[in-house]
Amino acid sequence: MVRVRITGTGSYLPEKILSNADLEKMVETSDEWITTRTGIRERRVAAAEENTSDLAVNAARKALEMAGAAPEEIGYIVVGTITGDFPWPATACLVQDKLGAKNAFAVDVSAACSGFIYALDSAVKQVQSGAVKKALVIGAEILTRIVDWTDRNTCVLFGDAAGAVVVEASDDESGILSTHLHSDGSYWELLHQPGFGSRHPVSEEALRQKVHCLKMQGNEVFKVAVRSMSDVAEEALAANGLSAGDLKLFIPHQANIRILDAVAKRLKLKQDQVFINVNKYGNTSGATIPVALDEAVQAGRIDKGDLVLLDAFGGGFTWGSILMRW
Ligand code: ACO
Repeated sequence: MVRVRITGTGSYLPEKILSNADLEKMVETSDEWITTRTGIRERRVAAAEENTSDLAVNAARKALEMAGAAPEEIGYIVVGTITGDFPWPATACLVQDKLGAKNAFAVDVSAACSGFIYALDSAVKQVQSGAVKKALVIGAEILTRIVDWTDRNTCVLFGDAAGAVVVEASDDESGILSTHLHSDGSYWELLHQPGFGSRHPVSEEALRQKVHCLKMQGNEVFKVAVRSMSDVAEEALAANGLSAGDLKLFIPHQANIRILDAVAKRLKLKQDQVFINVNKYGNTSGATIPVALDEAVQAGRIDKGDLVLLDAFGGGFTWGSILMRW
């Protein structure tokens, strides 16, 4: 089997910072509540003229530069997003156009916070099959445009960001060792955006009921997230005959520091094995993992040969893990 590795990473964070103090002026909340319950101190908000494809392109350019790849060399562009520029066409097609990646086919993956993991899995398989030589995988979200800014239960949690990687066949031992993906659609209602699909098309009444805004039953999501993220991490380690102690870095979806702490405790990971940046950006759904991976690479926290485990959980429910040797 052809081994596939990441040869470039990139990320983009919008400039505008929304702090917990700013949120205190918008809804009945406090920096103390948000920090202790979520670990989030601030998040980024895209500028009015920025769209999801713009964030994606900015991250993608950096990943292409690090990989030393020209846009024309990319055969496949896949974007994990639930907040694309339009319901359709795919944001990946807009990214293809903006980059001038004219030899790529392009599609979006809708798997909420697991979007990047699902997208990376599909890119790995495209390269493994020999269908494409180089693929561009992006997680990009502007969640602040589907958040109800009067609902303190959700508006404090989310932010905007994009992260990207380039993957291609590996010529050594480095590369993706395994991917494990799962879904359970019976949980769809716990975390979803009711409008404006076929169930709740646009109407004045639908707008009044804010069906375009994200809905979440946080407590229930929390419990399943901890269990599923722990299980799928253990599944990856067991499938490769490894234990948590072998990992250099565990890069989980950044939703809430208490979820991350609970998963790390279950896996018996040491503090320095877990990458955390939820304090700076909040939950950016499909973008959290590629942004975190890029920050870890830039900070020199991953060396050649290190084992890195990515782990996500999101609406659907969807969850998955990807283990790689850097
Ligand atoms: N400020 C102040 N008080 C608040 C706020 C706020 N921003 N939000 C909720 N509260 C209040 C509630 O109204 C409630 O008050 P009450 O007891 O008077 O009714 C109280 O705080 C406790 O509310 P809970 O919902 O029980 O708080 P909990 O400790 O569960 O924390 C949270 C809520 C942070 C949403 C948590 O459940 C969570 O993180 N869940 C995971 C959800 C998540 O991250 N989803 C993202 C997508 S999925 C994923 O990425 C994994």
